[in-house]
Amino acid sequence: MLRVIAIDGPAASGKSSTGARVARELAWAHLDSGALYRALTLATIDQLTAPWSAQRILALAEELPVRLVLVGETFQPEVAGVQVEVAIRSERVTQQVSAVAAIPEVRRWVNARQRDAVAAHAAGVVVDGRDIGTVVFPDAPLKIFLTASAQERAKRRLTQRGHRVDDARLARESQALAARDEADATRPVAPLKPADDAVALDSTTLSLEEQVRQVVALARERFPD
Ligand code: DC
Repeated sequence: MLRVIAIDGPAASGKSSTGARVARELAWAHLDSGALYRALTLATIDQLTAPWSAQRILALAEELPVRLVLVGETFQPEVAGVQVEVAIRSERVTQQVSAVAAIPEVRRWVNARQRDAVAAHAAGVVVDGRDIGTVVFPDAPLKIFLTASAQERAKRRLTQRGHRVDDARLARESQALAARDEADATRPVAPLKPADDAVALDSTTLSLEEQVRQVVALARERFPD
């Protein structure tokens, strides 16, 4: 049986924090596919002049290289041998990542990297993103679609970045998140949407502990050994 748990959902719905904690509880690895799209975007905006083509982006990815490295139990993106976990969260990457992620050849490349990672890690991998249950691992025995209200997601994102949460900031951040969700959900290739057999989890009023508890309980049912 494929040992993958797919967690999909909109931006800032808590996929990565939930995925990381679930993986730790199960002694599986965690892979945040958005981090790989972000790493490719970082490399692209730093090294290529617009207009970018799929061919140039992928040649750059192979040459630098952009890759996933297992650090502890987390697959982390690396660009030219450097860990980029902080740089990929910057605003300039966030603004461009949906455009890079909408390119079909880029998605094929990222999907292959995810499948390689899973094939190399027999214990199991919790993978989070937008199309994990629908496209990348349609046979995953457990698929979660994690949502939360735009307001709650904006609040979490601001708090995570250490910003004070005031009404104006909250409105701006919810608008930015809504725009990115719209771009991700309406693109022609692998749009954000729940798989037919996904378990929907609305985390608006759940604590992280409760979300993790529910996913781990489902995992123990679906992966008995
Ligand atoms: O989860 P995140 O915000 O770090 O993801 C960054 C972007 O990457 C997001 O705007 C959409 C894209 N993405 C995607 O298209 N497919 C995935 N499986 C993961 C992320």
